Amino acid sequence: MSNKAWSGRFSEPVSDLVKRYTASVFFDRRMAAQDIRGSLAHAKMLARQGIIAAADLSAIERGMAQIAGEIERGEFNWNLDDEDVHLNIEKRLTALIGDAGKRLHTGRSRNDQVATDIRLWLRDTIDLLDGLFATLSHALLDVAEAHAETPLPGFTHLQVAQPVTFGHHLLAYVEMFARDRERFADCRKRVNRLPLGAAALAGTTFPIDREFVARELGFDGVCANSLDAVSDRDFAIEFCSAASLTMVHVSRFSEELILWMSPRVGFIDLADRFCTGSSIMPQKKNPDVPELARGKSGRVFGHLMGLLTLMKGQPLAYNKDNQEDKEPLFDTADTLIDTLRIFADMVPGIRVKPEAMAAALRQGFATATDLADYLVRKGLPFRDAHEAVARAVRAAETKGCDLPDLTLAELQAFSALIGADVFGVLTVPGSLAARNHIGGTAPDQVKAAIARLRAMR
Ligand code: ARG
Repeated sequence: MSNKAWSGRFSEPVSDLVKRYTASVFFDRRMAAQDIRGSLAHAKMLARQGIIAAADLSAIERGMAQIAGEIERGEFNWNLDDEDVHLNIEKRLTALIGDAGKRLHTGRSRNDQVATDIRLWLRDTIDLLDGLFATLSHALLDVAEAHAETPLPGFTHLQVAQPVTFGHHLLAYVEMFARDRERFADCRKRVNRLPLGAAALAGTTFPIDREFVARELGFDGVCANSLDAVSDRDFAIEFCSAASLTMVHVSRFSEELILWMSPRVGFIDLADRFCTGSSIMPQKKNPDVPELARGKSGRVFGHLMGLLTLMKGQPLAYNKDNQEDKEPLFDTADTLIDTLRIFADMVPGIRVKPEAMAAALRQGFATATDLADYLVRKGLPFRDAHEAVARAVRAAETKGCDLPDLTLAELQAFSALIGADVFGVLTVPGSLAARNHIGGTAPDQVKAAIARLRAMR
C-alpha cells in the first residue's frame, strides 16, 4: 500500500494505468511557484491566527525555500505516485521538516488550493501578455507612421474599393489589439479573487482570516461563496475567450500578410527569417509564420470549446473534471505568448512596396466614389451622381483606362456639372486627403491617430 495522502481508507492501490490517468503532476508542476506562494500565505495566516505555532511557520518557510531552490535547479524529484503539484510539494516539505509540514494543510483543501494556484498563474500570465500587446502595438505604430501617406487599395469583397493609406490599414489592427488588451485587463479583475478559505467546499471550522491571505497574495478580494470558489472555472474560460478573439485578429492580419506577400499581389515582403523555402521548389519563399499563426488560431478556439464543455455538466461543487482545465489553459497561454512575441519581431521587418500598391490602385476605379461626391457637391442628388459615375466607369473600362485618364470632354458627357477642377478629386492623394475627420484615412488624421495611440500606455 502506498503512503498516498488519502490512502487510509483504501484496501488496494490503484493500478498503474489509473495512477497515470488520474495524475496531473506532469503538467500542473508548472504552477509550483504559485503553489508555494499560496502555501506560504496560508501558513502565515495560520500562525497569525494561532492555528499553528510560530515555530511551525518558520519551519514551513525554511522548507519551502529549499523546495523552491530544488525546483529551480531542476533537482526536485517529481513523482507520479504523489498525483499532483500540491501533494508532491507537501510530501517533500514533510520529508524536510516533519510534523510542521503535515500541519500546513490545516483549514485548506486541494480544491481551494488548486483554484488559488490557477488564479495566481493566470494573473501572472495576463500581466505578461499586457506587456507583449504593448510591444506589438508599438511595432505596428512605427510601421504605420512610416507609411502614414503610402496609398494602398482599400478592399471590400476583396475588390478594390477606395484608396486608404497603409498606415491607416495597420492602425485598424492596433485598435483590435487595444480592445483585446482591454478584455484581458477586464478578465483580470475576476481572476484576481482569492478562493482559499473555501476549503473542500463548505469553508472551514478554523478561525481563518481570508482577507489577510488575499492581501498577502495581491488579490483584490475573496471569492464570496465557498462552493463557487472551488468549482467554477469561468475565469479561465473568459481568458480563453479573450485569447480566441486575439487569435481571430492575428489570423486576419496573417491572412492579409500572406495575400500581400503572394507574388500575384506583391504589396510587401517579409524578412527571410520569418519564411521558409520548399524542399522541392527552389524558387519558393513561404510566409510560414503567418500561416502557422492562422492555423494556431484553431487550437485556441478548440481549447475554449473544450473548457466550456468541461464545465457545463458539472454539479456543484468541485469535481475531478476540473483537473482537465490546465492543459488547454496552458497551451492557450503558450500559443498566445509565442504568437504575440513573434509578431512583434516580424512587424518591423515588413518591407512595403509602394509601387505595387499604387499599380493596384490604378486598376480598380478607386476614386469613383470621389467623383460621385464631387457631383453631389455641385448639386446633383447622390443617387443620380452614383448613376452618372457608373456610366463613366463603364466608359473607362471600355477604353482600358482609369477614371482620371478620361479627358474633361469625355467626363462631361456623363454630367455637365463636371469642370476642370474634377481632376483634383480623381487623384489618389486628393481622395485620401479629402477623408479628413476622426477615423478617416487622410494622412493628417492617420498621424493624429498615431500620436493618440502612442500616448496611451
Ligand atoms: N489535481 C487536482 C486538480 O487539478 C487538484 C484538486 C484535487 N482535489 C481532489 N479532491 N481530488 O483539480
